[in-house]
Amino acid sequence: MNVHAAALAKAYPFDEATSIFADDVIGDLARHPKRLSPKYFYDAAGSELFEQITVLPEYYPTRTELGILRDRGGEIASIIPDGAALVEFGAGATTKVRLLLEHCDFGAYVPVDISGDFLNAQAAALRKDFPALGIYPVAADFTTPFALPEAVASMPKVGFFPGSTLGNFEPQEAGAFLRSARRILGRGAQMIIGVDLEKDERVLYDAYNDAAGVTARFNLNVLVRINRELGGNFDLSAFKHRSIYNRDRHRVEMHLISRKAQTVRILDNTFSFRPGESIHTENSYKYSLERFTTLARSAGWAVRESWTDAARMFSVHALAASG
Ligand code: AVJ
Repeated sequence: MNVHAAALAKAYPFDEATSIFADDVIGDLARHPKRLSPKYFYDAAGSELFEQITVLPEYYPTRTELGILRDRGGEIASIIPDGAALVEFGAGATTKVRLLLEHCDFGAYVPVDISGDFLNAQAAALRKDFPALGIYPVAADFTTPFALPEAVASMPKVGFFPGSTLGNFEPQEAGAFLRSARRILGRGAQMIIGVDLEKDERVLYDAYNDAAGVTARFNLNVLVRINRELGGNFDLSAFKHRSIYNRDRHRVEMHLISRKAQTVRILDNTFSFRPGESIHTENSYKYSLERFTTLARSAGWAVRESWTDAARMFSVHALAASG
């Protein structure tokens, strides 16, 4: 917490998570260009909007990855040792992990997520359908080191990181995450990871500019959240959603564009916007198979197997810890 945030915390009785949110928002909107972290999209409303995105006709990643996991479940199972502990980095909907649990004979499932509420709901749903499986949720930020539960210490480890969540990281952060996962999972570990691929620009554009406007609502929801949780006064009608594909940097960028000159107050801060000024809210990096292989190798993982759909839209990789 910086000095300013410490003063704020005295004036406003925030819990710790909200204080960090306030600190990040105020710091990030004071930067040039302005930005907000995509991790703040996912309050209850934002998580619900994301679930709606995953079934949009234009948003191919979720259904394509599910198709790969479904079609290649047997092959994936054949390279995973019986009795391994499956460690999932981030706990969202259970649809994807169910496909692995149905195909493979895991000894334990360890979902890791910062939100304890999510974890408990997820664990409860899975316990009903997999009563024999040991489920050991860990409430932690999966981008920082955390300890695995004692109960899985002697089991082989398999990491699971679906959804191309890796794409939200800057390339050097993605490398750092893979290195950290390698350390947490230990020698001899494997990892199943879903990575979105570079493709036709139009397809990428449409996936982040859906006709029904759900992605726009998802993007704008971060302002709704700032208004509610931090007492901000963003006028939603004065900002518009913009997504573009930045070909040079291999990423889709989401922005919120100010429609006019305006000022916004958040806690004791005032932020001025020029007409057309952007708040950069997300990067979603797209990889080629080659660039992903190089990234994984530099982070202590060998690509053991890569699967894609017939149209090469999305990729799922089995990694093996090297050394
Ligand atoms: C959850 C980060 C994989 O980048 O495609 C969807 C989030 N943003 N539509 C993605 C998102 C806009 C999504 N990830």
